[in-house]
Amino acid sequence: MISNKMEKALNEQLNAELFSSYLYLSIAAHFEANNWRGFANWMKKQSEEEYEHAMKFFEFINEVGKKVTLDKIEKPKLEWNSPLEAFEEALKHEEYITKRINDLVNLAIEEKDHATNNFLQWFVKEQVEEVSTVQKIVETLKLIGDSTGNLFMLDYELGKRE
Ligand SMILES: [Fe+2]
Ligand SMILES: [Fe+2]
Repeated sequence: MISNKMEKALNEQLNAELFSSYLYLSIAAHFEANNWRGFANWMKKQSEEEYEHAMKFFEFINEVGKKVTLDKIEKPKLEWNSPLEAFEEALKHEEYITKRINDLVNLAIEEKDHATNNFLQWFVKEQVEEVSTVQKIVETLKLIGDSTGNLFMLDYELGKRE
């Protein structure tokens, strides 16, 4: 049995995943406007993944007989000073989402809600992967520094993300 408190928390996470999708789409738009097509491609793919995460919450909430209640999505930032700054924001955001997922797991444990806990475990694993992936890109961007040639190479690399 899913509590009303959990229903509300799951809906809030659905909203947070939609905001993630929106934030990465905003970074993609910024990269497009600045001719970083590869970085833009990577962010668009990331945005699509976040929408899929939101839909996992959508399906789960319905599956357990609760109701999806959509709320407004926060306005994302629109400009960043460099690709490094944009990816650092993505990293900070993924760390924030990891904390939110952990808090949700804590609530599920507290409520002895095994169904939700089991559902959330996929996200626990996903967050480890996502933080690690973005962390690596941030580290590479730091190594690159002001080298435009290397920056174009990374842009080309990230443009290959399917
Ligand atoms: Fe997500
Ligand atoms: Fe994410």
